[in-house]
Amino acid sequence: MANARVTVHTEAGIDRIEPELHGHFAEHLGRCIYDGIFTDDSVEEDGFREDVVELLDDLEMPVLRWPGGCFADDYQWEDGIGPREERPRRRNLFWGQGREMVPEESNRFGTHEFLEFCERVGTEPYLAANVGSGDPQEAADWVEYVNYDGDTTLADRRRENGREEPFEVKYWGLGNENWGCGGQMDPEQYAREYRRFATYVGTQTAHMLDHDLELIACGFEGHDWNHQFMEEVGGTPWGVDYPLDHLTLHHYYGRTMSVAEADEDDYDEFFLEALEMDHHIERLASAINAFASTRDIGVIIDEWGSWHPEAQGGTGLEQPGTVLDALSAAAVLDIFNDHADVMTMSNIAQTVNVLQCLVETQGDDAFARPTYRVYDLYKPHKGNEAVTTSIETPTREVDDEELPLVGASASVDEDGEVFVTATNLDTRAAHTVEFTVEDATGDDVDAQVLFEGQEPDLEVDADNADAFTADELDVSVDNDGTITAELEPATVAGISVE
Ligand code: AHR
Repeated sequence: MANARVTVHTEAGIDRIEPELHGHFAEHLGRCIYDGIFTDDSVEEDGFREDVVELLDDLEMPVLRWPGGCFADDYQWEDGIGPREERPRRRNLFWGQGREMVPEESNRFGTHEFLEFCERVGTEPYLAANVGSGDPQEAADWVEYVNYDGDTTLADRRRENGREEPFEVKYWGLGNENWGCGGQMDPEQYAREYRRFATYVGTQTAHMLDHDLELIACGFEGHDWNHQFMEEVGGTPWGVDYPLDHLTLHHYYGRTMSVAEADEDDYDEFFLEALEMDHHIERLASAINAFASTRDIGVIIDEWGSWHPEAQGGTGLEQPGTVLDALSAAAVLDIFNDHADVMTMSNIAQTVNVLQCLVETQGDDAFARPTYRVYDLYKPHKGNEAVTTSIETPTREVDDEELPLVGASASVDEDGEVFVTATNLDTRAAHTVEFTVEDATGDDVDAQVLFEGQEPDLEVDADNADAFTADELDVSVDNDGTITAELEPATVAGISVE
């Protein structure tokens, strides 16, 4: 007997799930770049870790944000071009680098390395320009260096450095957490800075480039800040609309839940905190709508994921990879689908080795974490039309709130095939879920499940990583097409229905 019900309203479309909703983020932090993506010990000429390239290539990452994070607002892009051995070595104000956690930046991995890496793994680059300690000229020069096809000194420098054709980078972030590490600005101050940068970076679109740029402002989890920012930036002195295509914020959760010490009550609190993503998206969209309702400004969450007490600056923000984190990612990706009408991108933090990374390297091994398996399972959603779901689920009271134990989202592809994902966040009990997909016959159902029989807090390593791959999920299909499946504790299902 089912105790949870998911009804998929196939005719109630929300919007296209932009593939960029499954995007990623890589910063010069700990072992993300050095020893993660790139290794000085590499036998490969280009310095990329081939095992990491292979895993990320398979994942079909749509977009990758770089070079930070806090690092971005202290980064001079010109340090990272030209012959590697001649590049300056700088302090890294925010993070230690590599295995030894050296608070210095060798600049061995710079603009060309990053953009070539993106080409290798087939992903769209998203560059974050320095607003905190930089100036608009520097940002505009970076755009010209990577994107301009004409006859300027900067474009020629790119060619001398080995790249004839422009890279055509579309996404440009103007600042990172400028309310904090990016300059401790108040919202009005950042709005004025944003306008100044957007003036110089944005005008290049019309005059010099034959493709559009999309400019991204960085907001805050404190939503009054976003309202004040939008009010100031949205004002159009002299009738000018400043280019602003997306507004982002960062949501990390799990700061008080040590993976090693937590129990099932802590897991519930952790999931509840992850689900706050829903509220953040709604509040960010409402700030946009309040001051720029006639403009098309998308919501981005360009840093998010678990951040446990194990992740400390001194250890490069490394923390164990577990099914708990993966479940939170599945629940959040479902939330993104439900907000496909306002969301344009998300970037989980971070791609390799840092925080809720998808890939971990240990010496010569590179392996997928459970969160990687969720992204892999959720692939069919990308580019589909998100559709509305109604969910009846058991709940558990947690800190005077109700944690919904079963969550889901659904989408339809251009041939009418429906894809439903569902997560059982309950680490204590299985739940039997009945899926009703409107207008589906249920003749052709393919169902997979992740993490059946796995301990939710077991740390993944090179030896056990393969045990987290998907299995077939047992389902029964009624005459009327209703699909019933028992979701074991702490599992994620992906069901395709014709
Ligand atoms: O992802 C780690 C850090 O978290 C980033 O540098 C910063 O933007 C955020 O606070």
